[in-house]
Amino acid sequence: MWSVTLVLVFLSCGILAWRRRNRNKDEPPPLPGALPLIGHIHLLLGNSSQLWNTIKTMCYQTLNAGGVTSGYIGPRTLYLVTDPDNCLKIANICLQKDSFYKFLKPWLGEGLLTGDLQIWKVHRKLLNPAFNQTILDGFIDVHNRQARRLVKDLQVEVDKGPFDHFTYILLNVLETTCLTVMAVDFSDESLLNSEYVHAAEDMLEYIMERFQKPWLHSDVVFNWSSLKRMQDECLKILHNMSNTVLKKRKAEYLYNKQCKETEDTIKGPKLQTFMDLLLELAIEKGAFNDREIRDHVDTILIGGHDTSASVLMYTMLLVGSYHEVQENIYEELDNVFGNEDRDVTKQDLSQLVYLEAVLKESMRIYPIAPIIARKLHQDIKLRNCTLTKGRTCFLAAYGVHRHPMWGPDVEEFKPERWLDFETLPKCPAAFAGFGMGRRFCIGKTYAMMAMKTTLAHVFRRYRVSGSHLSMVTKMEIMLKPVSGHHVAIEIRKNKT
Ligand code: HEM
Ligand SMILES: *[C@@H]1O[C@H](CO)[C@@H](O)[C@H](O)[C@H]1NC(C)=O
Ligand SMILES: *[C@@H]1O[C@H](CO)[C@@H](O)[C@H](O)[C@H]1NC(C)=O
Ligand SMILES: *[C@@H]1O[C@H](CO)[C@@H](O)[C@H](O)[C@H]1NC(C)=O
Ligand SMILES: *[C@@H]1O[C@H](CO)[C@@H](O)[C@H](O)[C@H]1NC(C)=O
Ligand SMILES: *[C@@H]1O[C@H](CO)[C@@H](O)[C@H](O)[C@H]1NC(C)=O
Repeated sequence: MWSVTLVLVFLSCGILAWRRRNRNKDEPPPLPGALPLIGHIHLLLGNSSQLWNTIKTMCYQTLNAGGVTSGYIGPRTLYLVTDPDNCLKIANICLQKDSFYKFLKPWLGEGLLTGDLQIWKVHRKLLNPAFNQTILDGFIDVHNRQARRLVKDLQVEVDKGPFDHFTYILLNVLETTCLTVMAVDFSDESLLNSEYVHAAEDMLEYIMERFQKPWLHSDVVFNWSSLKRMQDECLKILHNMSNTVLKKRKAEYLYNKQCKETEDTIKGPKLQTFMDLLLELAIEKGAFNDREIRDHVDTILIGGHDTSASVLMYTMLLVGSYHEVQENIYEELDNVFGNEDRDVTKQDLSQLVYLEAVLKESMRIYPIAPIIARKLHQDIKLRNCTLTKGRTCFLAAYGVHRHPMWGPDVEEFKPERWLDFETLPKCPAAFAGFGMGRRFCIGKTYAMMAMKTTLAHVFRRYRVSGSHLSMVTKMEIMLKPVSGHHVAIEIRKNKT
């Protein structure tokens, strides 16, 4: 009964809005398939893998229409942009995340990813120093240790046929994130870790479901739904993780502070890891309240592990699918390391240019954040059209990565394209794997260092095989695999 009434209310709003829709003659062309009143809602139904197929189609339609289109969710008009220059322009003018991000707020609050613009401006500046290169260089031992641990854990799968490597990588990267930016050792908390990983997955699924059901967009209705109750169960587990991390670290911080006060204070600005910086700013300067501290920890936990783990998963699968690429990786590794099994150093990382190209190309083909969204706080004039203030604008990294400026081989997996500046697009926004404009990923350099170290260890030891074309993917905020992403591994025979 409730839902029937709501649908009716929703439809009447739709009628009103339909009449008022394109006042502006300069609107971008509409996506095909809109129905009266409901607009494109019917295309967004279906499960998350059907949704992903729809999004892909819409990205290609937008590319064909010149890079900007309009879509309609009932009474709302939204925009989809796949043109790199336009994306960058919008991303830099409109720093406020769209209201869809509020679905993430019960979990991530005012953390950097979801935070309101005014809070974000202050907090991003305060937290940036925690990702200074000098700090990141200090993590390289941990990355080596964790990479060796992953190689060892994978040993049981050697010659056993296809298996789900994602599960191994997820837990490994979560532990690494805790050890580095959080500076806590959670390796023994395997129960909490695996509970957290599952809860995070469920949470992303629920948020996507809410997006697909427009009547749940309103908090009033959502608060009565069973989805909300399921979400609350997940939140208990997710927040238990961040609370546990914080409790451990806070006690250590206060203890260390007590010890330090007796020593001489160190001169000059000192660089601190994320957690130390966060606690110092909160405890000494009162920069964050308790909820905000936890929001930042939650944001870095999910932003730090799920993303890198997914990229590693897709990269291993892609490399396993292309024999020559794997051979090229081996050649580079042999040149840098010979037959030695030593740790990867900072100098090695700058020499692993082909491996870096492979990572970037994997992120181009499978951007794990295929779509981000901004709120337009002003009208935006683009080359051929004008976007109307107050509306939602989707910036599609997936579409940007398939723009004709990549060349006729845009659909192919070709790491070599990154090694030749002549063939790379001149537009700096053509690669959007780490977001766009000033609100780009804070962990970009961290992630590249960590992933290169991990892959160097994995490919020094194993030969991977798989077939990415048989993979089925789904859209759950991030691009995730459903099936067919399994790989098989064998021990690599050394040359000579
Ligand atoms: C391969 C790994 C990674 C990828 C592909 C990635 C991708 C992205 C993307 C696309 C965004 C923009 C999201 C948006 O605009 O809505 C973003 C933002 C962010 N990422 Fe990452 N990320 C990665 C690793 C990391 C790591 C390791 C951390 C932290 C340790 C991190 C922390 C963040 C944070 C805090 C933001 C919000 C930035 C802001 O708005 O100021 N990410 N990331
Ligand atoms: C989504 O629906 C399609 C078609 O009904 C089905 O084949 C597929 O297995 C479903 N995928 C998921 C992830 O449920
Ligand atoms: C703008 O319009 C011109 C002419 O119709 C077209 O060739 C071009 O692709 C359009 N560009 C964009 C970015 O829409
Ligand atoms: C990192 O910190 C050092 C020392 O405070 C500073 O000189 C340097 O400019 C910082 N680098 C970046 C990229 O912020
Ligand atoms: C948090 O997780 C730990 C470890 O799984 C568990 O023992 C504890 O009961 C949990 N606390 C809450 C409030 O769920
Ligand atoms: C919905 O529930 C949350 C707590 O779970 C509460 O903070 C919020 O105010 C509620 N919103 C409405 C509109 O009832």
